[in-house]
Order: sequence, then C-alpha cells, then structure tokens
Amino acid sequence: MCGKGGVGKTTTAALMVKAMADRGNKKILAIDADPAIGLSYALGIKVVKTVDDVRNNLIENIREEKTDDKANTLHKLDYEIFDALVENKNFALLAIGRPEGEGCYCQVNHLLKDIIESLSKNFDVIIIDGEAGIEQINRRVMKNVDHLILVSDTSAKGLNVAKTIKKVAHDNKAVDYKSTGLLLNRIKDKEEVNTIMNQVDLNLLGWIPEDDLIREYDFKGKPYLDFPKVSPASEVIHNILDSIGI
Ligand SMILES: Nc1ncnc2c1ncn2[C@@H]1O[C@H](COP(=O)(O)OP(=O)(O)OP(=O)(O)O)[C@@H](O)[C@H]1O
Ligand SMILES: [Mg+2]
Repeated sequence: MCGKGGVGKTTTAALMVKAMADRGNKKILAIDADPAIGLSYALGIKVVKTVDDVRNNLIENIREEKTDDKANTLHKLDYEIFDALVENKNFALLAIGRPEGEGCYCQVNHLLKDIIESLSKNFDVIIIDGEAGIEQINRRVMKNVDHLILVSDTSAKGLNVAKTIKKVAHDNKAVDYKSTGLLLNRIKDKEEVNTIMNQVDLNLLGWIPEDDLIREYDFKGKPYLDFPKVSPASEVIHNILDSIGI
C-alpha cells in the first residue's frame, strides 16, 4: 500500500488484514513499514521490538567488537527477527521502524533484507503498509511485490503522488510488480469517482466512501480487528481481495 501522506494507507491496510484474517484461509504477514508505526497501532498490536532495534543492537555489538564469527551473527539475527515478529491468532506482524539508519551498514541491511525475505516464504500473503510518498519506492523498500496498491483520496495532490509512484516504479524499474491499481478513499459519491477516473490513466481497484464508522474507530482509537465483517468499507476491501486473486 502506498500513496501520499494521510490518504488512508494504514486504514485500508488494516481493513485488508482484518478481511483476510476473517477469511482464515491464508497465512498472513503484515509488515508495518512506516517509521511512525501506524499499522500495528491500527490493528491494536503492541510492538516491543522493531527491525530497526535489531539492527541498532547489532551495529552496537559490531562497534564494541562484541560479535564473534559471521555464522553466529547470522544465527543471532535470525533469532532476533523471529523475536520481533508478533504472532496473532490469524496473522503475524513485523514492524520495520526506521527503514535504514544513517551511515552505511550496508552489510547489516543486506543481511536483514535476506532474513526478512526468507521469513516471508513462510507466508501466503504479505501486506506492506508503506511510508508516505515516493521515497520508499526510490529506496526500493518494496522491491518485489505482486500488487502495487496506490491509495489516494480525491485531492489533486494525492492523485499526483499515486501517478508519480506508478511512473517511478515502472520507469526506474524500482518496483517489480505484476499489477497495480488505484484504491480511492474518502469518496463522496460515484460521480466523484467517474470524474477522477476520466482524468487518470490508472486501473480502478475500488472506492471507499467517507465512512462514519472509520471516523468513529479513529476517534476512539479502536483496533480495526474489531471492525464489523459486514460494512460498506469491508465489502469494498473483500471485492478488491477477490479481484486481485487473494
Ligand atoms: N474512508 C474514510 N472515512 C473517514 N475517515 C477516514 C477514511 N479513511 C481514512 N480516514 C481517516 O484519515 C486519517 C488518515 O488515515 P491513515 O492514517 O490511514 O492514512 P495514511 O495514508 O496511513 O497516513 P500516513 O501517511 O500518515 O501514514 C485517519 O484519521 C483516518 O481515520
Ligand atoms: Mg499510515
């Protein structure tokens, strides 16, 4: 899930995790890739350790030359990442924290990427709630994805960011994706959708109305895992899951 700041990436990602968890037929890994840790909170999951914490510990150990051999480091990292994984009844969650710290600890970053990649193989679906904007696309945080979901509200700025992300992902070959599409959020009526879709060259995945229930969940800080199975927003999310074949 990507798009401009505040368009609803985290909300829709949380609703997707909830919808997939309700279906109960897939092993789901939710990745909170926003440094501000949004998805975990939206789902009501307490994060104790992020990937960034693991990285910082390792870097500290390297600095203090506490690390022994390479194989041992790898084994420890593997364990630490597993420890950072929060397992819920129907899904697991991993929070990234800061995507990459200052300085080039490229080896550490590569190791972590490899570990997360191999961890990912244990799951059927991985949903990534990305950081706002196009930076993460440039930094290749989401290098390989099946579905690049561009979330936008009705604002020209939001739609421009969605278009730019698609362009950068495609032209710079920054993201290897199989399909991409627009998820419109906070829509007033169908007419608004038609007007937007006449102006953009993107495939429409679905649209979620401005929703009083989402407002209420946001206002009260209620976890989206408790969101009703049947509601206008949930229906859109289920339809999108069907259409992209999840
Ligand atoms: N369909 C909707 N109806 C009403 N309110 C909504 C809807 N979608 C999102 N919101 C509200 O909009 C705000 C921003 O949503 P959200 O945090 O999901 O956006 P985001 O794209 O993840 O933001 P950020 O870029 O900061 O991570 C929240 O207060 C959320 O409750
Ligand atoms: Mg967010």
